[in-house]
This record gives sequence, structure tokens and C-alpha cells, in this order.
Amino acid sequence: MSDRPTILCLASYFKGTRFLEACNEAGAKVILITREKLAHEPWPHHALAERFLLPSLHTQPDLTYAISYLARTRSFARIVALDEYDTLPVAMLREHLRIPGMGETTGRFFRDKLAMRVRAQERGLAVPAFVHALNQTAIQHFLDGVAAPWVLKPRTEASAMGIKLLHSPEDVWHTLEQLGDRRAYFLLEEFLPGTVFHVDGLVSNKKVQFATVSAYGRPPLNVYQDGGVFVTRTVSDSQIKAPLLDWHQTLVDAFGFVDGVTHAEFIHNEADGRYYFLEVAARVGGAGIDLLVEAATGVNPWVAWAQLEVARAAGTTCTFPALDSKHAGLLVCLARQQNPDLGAFNAPEVTAHVSKPYHAGLVLASDDENRLSTVLELYTQRFAEEFLTTRPPLDKAPE
Ligand SMILES: Nc1ncnc2c1ncn2[C@@H]1O[C@H](COP(=O)(O)OP(=O)(O)O)[C@@H](O)[C@H]1O
Ligand SMILES: [Mg+2]
Repeated sequence: MSDRPTILCLASYFKGTRFLEACNEAGAKVILITREKLAHEPWPHHALAERFLLPSLHTQPDLTYAISYLARTRSFARIVALDEYDTLPVAMLREHLRIPGMGETTGRFFRDKLAMRVRAQERGLAVPAFVHALNQTAIQHFLDGVAAPWVLKPRTEASAMGIKLLHSPEDVWHTLEQLGDRRAYFLLEEFLPGTVFHVDGLVSNKKVQFATVSAYGRPPLNVYQDGGVFVTRTVSDSQIKAPLLDWHQTLVDAFGFVDGVTHAEFIHNEADGRYYFLEVAARVGGAGIDLLVEAATGVNPWVAWAQLEVARAAGTTCTFPALDSKHAGLLVCLARQQNPDLGAFNAPEVTAHVSKPYHAGLVLASDDENRLSTVLELYTQRFAEEFLTTRPPLDKAPE
């Protein structure tokens, strides 16, 4: 078995266990790099050939030295970023070690909200009006021409962290003043009220192999800032699905994405009825969205992605399974209980639990859309009563 290709995986958060297991099952030798702080998480040790711990995956040149040191005696066929925060460090390592896969220029489009805005606009995709929160004249011009409110958002955070809704030019200037030199790491954009959709895809050789379209029950910013149960469900209306699937392929083309998974978001603007590109990441959707996709299609995106990476590493072709098409829904909330008891949520539509300390989460699937709606609404209500708690929003990801 000495010719098993080696896949190096970086994870600065505890996630991707299905990916690690599927890589191992598909015949790769899997090496995991994670943070010391996450040493005791339940990583799938049976699937790992080796595991190394670092204090941080984002401190340079330490990361480059550490991975280059390993590469003295190991040959990495692929390097994979399991978490969104690892996308750019991994792109840099690929370039440094000349390992195939997404490089730094493309990686930026999947990580930096300003880069993705600029490129999407250049390629004719509708985006909210925006400006880099840097040049005084450009910001004043934006404030004069675009109606309030505006969102000030960090270019490289996730999960709605650090996003501020601002209502007056004074608010904007004051907030920028407080950011000091950090303001160049932000962009300012038009606030578009409306439903937020997400498209979760798997791309092979620049073509979308499969993608699901889902709609968040309430926009993620509202859930993050005001609390409540996070709900998302697959969309069956082809009038919504078809344009969003088209857009997703257009994004893949515009951003030069070749192989891997995508999680793209779009806003349906209530004011003009049009769709606007919100953001895209080269990762599996968080908060249990992988289980939503699995419930709807029968395919878990972590597993399909692992099979694709191993095929690329081994130089073989990858075949993708036929997909189911069920209606699926996901609900997750912060829970008062460390291990909430979901025993009473036993409708036949329940396909999976999202297990994480101090969270309650369930996935539902059905062939009958009305039935799915009924159970989803009922359970959302019961989650709010039995489990729901809130936590103050953060400005950035905790170290
Ligand atoms: N221009 C906008 N107009 C309206 N809502 C927005 C806008 N930008 C962001 N939001 C809200 O903030 C959430 C997070 O923004 P997003 O750009 O997706 O960053 P993140 O990486 O934090 O998810 C969105 O899901 C949406 O609810
Ligand atoms: Mg988002």
C-alpha cells in the first residue's frame, strides 16, 4: 500500500470528520494538521495516518516552516482546507510547495468579500452597491449615491460575525474612525432586505456536478444578531431554482474554480424582485447544511468532495452517484442544555441530529412538501420553547 497518495488536511476548527473518513476509505493516506486547542475533539483517529498540532494555523512563517519540514520526508499529492479560515493559508502552501489545486488568486475570490464583489461586478453579475471602506472620496460618493441603511462588513470573517448595520453618514464615519488602520479590511455595502438563498455545490473540472438550492427561514444576520432558531430548507420552485443554479455555474466560471465544494449565497431583493450575489466560499456549508444536502440528495458533500480529492490525488476519474430529490429542512439553535434530549422529536421525517454541545439540531426530509412544512414549523416552535437560548454576537472568530 506504499503507493497510496497522501492528502494533507488543515482544520483550524473541529469539522470535516466525514471528509477525513471518506478520504481514508477511498484509499488515501490522510494527515491532519489542527490546533493544539482542538487536540481533544473527537477526531476520527482510525482514519488518520498521522496528526500534528500547531498553536495556530495562521501564524507565518511558522505554518510554512512546519509543513515544509513535514514535506522533507512526505510527498503530499493534495492539500485541503477543511475550514473557510484555512482557504488562503492552504492556497499559499500549494503555491509555495507547487502542489496542484486552487492557488492564491482564485482563493481570494472565495474568501475576500471585496475581491468577490469586484470580480462578480466585472463579470456582469448583480451585486449590492459597495465600496472598499478606505478612500474618503470614494466612501463619500457611495454615501451620497446609495440610500441607507448600509452594512459594514469585514472582508474575511464568516457566520455574520462583525457585520454592522449603519443608518447615517455620521455613524459610518464614526465607526470607520474607530477602526483606524483596520478599516482597509472592511467594505461598505447597500443593505438589501429579502430572503437569503444558498446554493451548495460540488464542482469537478469546472463543471457543477450537483448543487442544491435552499432558502434560510430568516436571514442569517437576523438570527446571529437577534437570536432565534436557524432554519433552512430546500427550494422546489423551479422559477427560483433555475436562475440560482445558472448563477452558481456563472460564478464558478467567473472565479475560475476547478475542483471542490462551494457554498454560495444570494439575496432576493424585496424592492425590485431581483437576485443579488451575496458571497461564495470553497467549503461545505456549516451548521449542519451538509446533512440537509444529504437528506435531500442522498449524497453528503463532505464524502463526495473527499472522493473527488482522492481521484485527483491518484490521477483516476471520479464518478458521481445518481441523486435523490427529496424536500429537506434543517433547524438548529443554541441550547440551554449541554446535551439537549431530542428523543421526543421522533417524526418519521427526522433523518439526522446535529450534535454539538449546547446546540439542538435536526434534519428532516420528505417526499411530501406540505408534510415537511408542517413538521418544520412545529419543531421550530418547540425548539424555541424547549431549548433556545441566546449569546451576544461576536465581532470576529474566537481564537
Ligand atoms: N448587502 C446586504 N444586504 C442585506 N443583508 C446582508 C447584506 N450583506 C450581508 N447581509 C446579511 O448578513 C449575513 C452575512 O453576510 P455574508 O456576506 O453572507 O457574510 P458571512 O460570511 O458572515 O456569512 C447575510 O446572510 C445577510 O443576512
Ligand atoms: Mg454568509
